[in-house]
Amino acid sequence: MTLQGSERDDFDLQMMALALRAARLGLGTTAPNPSVGAVIANEATGEVISTGTTAPGGRPHAEPLAIEAAGEAARGKTIYVTLEPCSHVGRTRPCVEAVLKAGLSRVVIAQEDPDPRVSGRGVRMLREAGVIVRKSVLHDEARWLTRGHIVRVTERRPFIQLKLALSNEDTVPLAVDGKPNFATSETSRAHGHMLRARADAILIGAGTLRDDDPDLRCRLPGLEGRSPVRVVLAGSSLPDPARKLVRTATETPVWIMTTASTIIQDQARADALTKAGCRLMVIGGVGGEPWLPSLCEALVAEGITRLLVEGGPTLWRSFAKSGLVDEVVVFRAGRAAMLQETAGTVDDINQEIPEALRSLLPGLTLQMWDRRVSGPDEMITLRHDKPA
Ligand SMILES: NC(=O)c1ccc[n+]([C@@H]2O[C@H](COP(=O)([O-])OP(=O)(O)OC[C@H]3O[C@@H](n4cnc5c(N)ncnc54)[C@H](OP(=O)(O)O)[C@@H]3O)[C@@H](O)[C@H]2O)c1
Repeated sequence: MTLQGSERDDFDLQMMALALRAARLGLGTTAPNPSVGAVIANEATGEVISTGTTAPGGRPHAEPLAIEAAGEAARGKTIYVTLEPCSHVGRTRPCVEAVLKAGLSRVVIAQEDPDPRVSGRGVRMLREAGVIVRKSVLHDEARWLTRGHIVRVTERRPFIQLKLALSNEDTVPLAVDGKPNFATSETSRAHGHMLRARADAILIGAGTLRDDDPDLRCRLPGLEGRSPVRVVLAGSSLPDPARKLVRTATETPVWIMTTASTIIQDQARADALTKAGCRLMVIGGVGGEPWLPSLCEALVAEGITRLLVEGGPTLWRSFAKSGLVDEVVVFRAGRAAMLQETAGTVDDINQEIPEALRSLLPGLTLQMWDRRVSGPDEMITLRHDKPA
């Protein structure tokens, strides 16, 4: 039996959703490569034969992993991939070659790869070899999931996600006596740590480093190894070497990004930070302040594709004013009950965007994407969607 028409379309959607789930598993582990998901399935029986996710470090790619797991069973079957298979010889053989060698007869892809080395070539090579190719299945979801890779290639910047924690009154809880003020719950903080696990780098400004002395690593049980590179943006002076981040720089990398003049101003401190294991990186500045496009360029040059900006408010505003924001995740303390009252069920998406975000994120036109309870708090995800 071979599926036809709408039955086949439904099956393609289900399998691509599975491939997207596989891709999501690798977010934050595959830089500089995108995390891709692949599924090999038998349309005749509805059986899923194997799955693959880009391996940590970006290689092997998802397709050869799924093909290897399927073995001979791949012959004559369909592979679902969240990104067009690569066609160029890099450090590994091209995925198109692996697909042809495995004898797969149909390839369903969610999106073409904007990388000029691939862009449409992978699809063309498959078709020329007689393989049936279907494009653009769950395209928009795949595009968002792969956005770090897309904007790295098209805009020379990483995917930028801002994380904000607000009090019950929608104000920003500030540090008290040199200690962070955790207004939100353990559950929300665990969600926040999951965002860290899915990021390649996490960024704070000199203010948060000074006031909170944070650690910024992922502390979710089992995901401790998924901590992103910790980046501090320093303007007027270099960070104090006694900060927790600096003391743990040999365990999890710390990059201090600042202007050349700030380093020259305090060479002794620069040397102390370098000796402690921090990496000092010079970026361009405007009016004495580090310039965000220059920060983005430096991050991309280091292979960073997904950046989580944890704060504080000065940095949020800077990113908003520059328009350098893709997604905003907001935790609102103690708001879960209100959400249930106004929205009826937690699945109802309430479109109203908190007024406080207008002043915290000036100039951004945000769309509500998701709204849900997070323990006693509310967690909302907003997207600043520009064509990419
Ligand atoms: N509720 C939350 O989600 C949350 C999250 C994080 C922090 N906080 C709180 O926020 C407070 C710190 O606020 P903050 O606004 O001072 O922290 P911040 O945004 O982390 O740091 C701002 C500082 O970063 C430096 N910087 C360098 N280049 C910059 C640029 N292009 N744009 C903006 N800043 C740049 C500047 O300091 P220099 O010129 O001195 O280098 C600037 O004053 C603390 O009380 C902390 O507890 C709250």
